[in-house]
Amino acid sequence: MIRDLTDDEARRALPEKWGSTDPDVIPAWVAEMDFALAPAIAEALSRAVSDGVTGYPRFEIGGELGAAYAGFAQRRHGMDVDPEQVLPVVDVTAGVRLALDVLSGPGPLVLPVPAYSPHLGIAEVSGRQRVDLVVDPDATRAELDLDRLDRLFADGARTLLLTQPHNPWGRVFSPTELEGVRDVVTKHGARVVADEIHAPLVLPGAEFVSYLDVDGTADHAVAVVAASKAFNTAGLRCAQIISRDVATRDRLLSVPMARNESWSSLGVVAAVAAYTDGDAWLDALIHRLDEQRSLLTALLAEHLPAARMRPLEGTYLAWIDVRAYGHADPASLALQKGRVRVAPGHDFHPDLPGHLRLNIATSPDRLREIVRRLAGALT
Ligand SMILES: Cc1ncc(COP(=O)(O)O)c(C=O)c1O
Repeated sequence: MIRDLTDDEARRALPEKWGSTDPDVIPAWVAEMDFALAPAIAEALSRAVSDGVTGYPRFEIGGELGAAYAGFAQRRHGMDVDPEQVLPVVDVTAGVRLALDVLSGPGPLVLPVPAYSPHLGIAEVSGRQRVDLVVDPDATRAELDLDRLDRLFADGARTLLLTQPHNPWGRVFSPTELEGVRDVVTKHGARVVADEIHAPLVLPGAEFVSYLDVDGTADHAVAVVAASKAFNTAGLRCAQIISRDVATRDRLLSVPMARNESWSSLGVVAAVAAYTDGDAWLDALIHRLDEQRSLLTALLAEHLPAARMRPLEGTYLAWIDVRAYGHADPASLALQKGRVRVAPGHDFHPDLPGHLRLNIATSPDRLREIVRRLAGALT
């Protein structure tokens, strides 16, 4: 069911990941997958294009998209979502910004670091100070430091940007960890914006629980979700903010039209198809990613035995510590010497040496070649 794109197909399908990379370089950086679109989505989009669905999307909450997401959340996460609490936005990054601007006080934003790189700039563009909740690169498990979170809120921070499942940590937070976050947040009357874009990409062994499904979070949190990472539709521009109380939803809805960065009609078509008819393809994807995760572990053991990787619980993005090989910027060396493009660790954790993020959503053959080239460059 998962069809690998050839290099030529990938270059046409993924203009940023493949198209902006030299032909002799294997791209394993940005979070897009080298797989053909799920047939249910491709068919829905073809139908929509031949019907000329190029007008404005409906400016509505709920509707077909809300119902489709509510069905998906129920089937995949056992989560009750009121379709009328599903608000479309153009993408997850814009949804996070909107939630901050509309719902949060002006105090600092707490960001767990390493962080998805554009999140590092979100506090600044929203006129806030960023305060970091840093994971010690030597810690055996990447965990949220709740004592420090408590101190940051005590010192005036007002919002936590919680990415879960986490990119690039690869962690899926447990209900107990999320309850710990909830306790600290409620103690200080603070807020949470939960970026849950990777929720459909939880791998066997872990289970996703939305922060909104933790008791006592409805009045201080929203989740921002999208079909785009799991179904490779990032260019189609459609994400959703999920709220749990009507007051929050109404505040989000009340933003002036001038603030609106509208989503796209074809994005809605793709998201509805993914959420409604995508389960079998998504199951096959999870199976493939599970195999790729095992393959990566075996390849690192063979070719880069001093590399350190914490277990990948979710996402297709592996965070790898290669400090043992002594290069401050291994991604740059990998590109120059190995002709493989991975994401530099310092994009996610400023000034952190010797780390990289590797995208495993590709064919087993490419993954073998990626690790072989990495090893050739770093050792
Ligand atoms: C955690 C996280 N949030 C947001 C995004 C980007 O989402 P969007 O393109 O919808 O803004 C990504 C992309 O990889 C991501 O990993």
